[in-house]
Amino acid sequence: MKISVIGVGRVGSTLAYTLLLRGLADELVLVDEAHQVALGEALDLQHAEAFTSHPVIVRAGGVEDTAGSGVVVLACSVPWNPAYQDRFELGRDNLRLFRRIVPALARASPEAKMLVVTNPCDVMTYHAVGLSGFGPRRVFGTGTLIDSARFRTMLSAKMGIHPDDLRAYVLGEHGDSQFPVFSLAVAGATRIARDPDTHEVFRQASRVGFEVVHRKGHTSYAISMAAALVVEAIAWDTHRTMPLSVVVEGFLGVRDVCLSLPVVVGKDGIARVLEPELGDDEQAAFRRSAETVRQGIALSLEHGDPLVGQVSNLPI
Ligand SMILES: NC(=O)c1ccc[n+]([C@@H]2O[C@H](COP(=O)([O-])OP(=O)(O)OC[C@H]3O[C@@H](n4cnc5c(N)ncnc54)[C@H](O)[C@@H]3O)[C@@H](O)[C@H]2O)c1
Repeated sequence: MKISVIGVGRVGSTLAYTLLLRGLADELVLVDEAHQVALGEALDLQHAEAFTSHPVIVRAGGVEDTAGSGVVVLACSVPWNPAYQDRFELGRDNLRLFRRIVPALARASPEAKMLVVTNPCDVMTYHAVGLSGFGPRRVFGTGTLIDSARFRTMLSAKMGIHPDDLRAYVLGEHGDSQFPVFSLAVAGATRIARDPDTHEVFRQASRVGFEVVHRKGHTSYAISMAAALVVEAIAWDTHRTMPLSVVVEGFLGVRDVCLSLPVVVGKDGIARVLEPELGDDEQAAFRRSAETVRQGIALSLEHGDPLVGQVSNLPI
């Protein structure tokens, strides 16, 4: 499968390397505004390819070179500006960037699935759905997949059970209003209780990304593994379930916003959106997340901007 990675900064370059190691691409196209950087990354990966068992063509290029991609990953971004008053201000600048590039990418690869990593992830996924015109089943964001992985990893350490054997989701916004679904969390067919200890694990898991950024300046490995899992589910039609940011189409009365729900991922993108039976407090938290992301979408639009959305009306 041909995979294009748009934006090969710290996340995009790590993802490209992850895709190469896992043999998920036959052709890998790297696109970056800083074309010299994309050329350098492509060369370096070409040399790495000699050590892999799966042949892959790696090259740097422009949007035209992405034509016919099966998956397009958006990891392009303006840098975080310390003058931002609100994390959603990044969304306004990244929407300008998406407006320049997403429609052209969609025209070049009309059959592609689009995976959004760029932050604020739910807001940018919403805009990517509208700008691509692809319909909500083919455009989705990594959302709380990474938050859920961190939660399971930290629960695993606390409980002494392998993280794969824990079913515990973080849903809602990939951001401050995310919430853990304790009412459905299980380990080896037993309930994971919501008590002060497990709640403290969630609290720490939801902050630990900031600790990584504080210490090394950015995050890259875990998010790249998360994005690679999504690409793998598409490439190999695995029908794995995972929480991803998708257009919500009426769950708990919420619509026309992107939030993470558990979904089934296959070759066509989102095969199904699952609707978990949440507890009362979790339902309230989901609605709060919807409100937060809606405000983020509004903040990302400039005065007089044409509304990108009403994405629920797009064909599935
Ligand atoms: N969803 C998540 O869980 C998650 C985790 C980590 C990072 N992120 C987000 O991913 C994005 C990338 O993070 P990073 O650390 O790699 O940033 P980075 O600054 O290292 O890389 C961004 C890259 O985008 C490129 N770019 C800018 N405009 C472009 C354009 N028009 N076309 C192509 N490329 C363009 C830049 O040149 C740069 O190389 C950020 O928005 C970050 O917040 C999301």
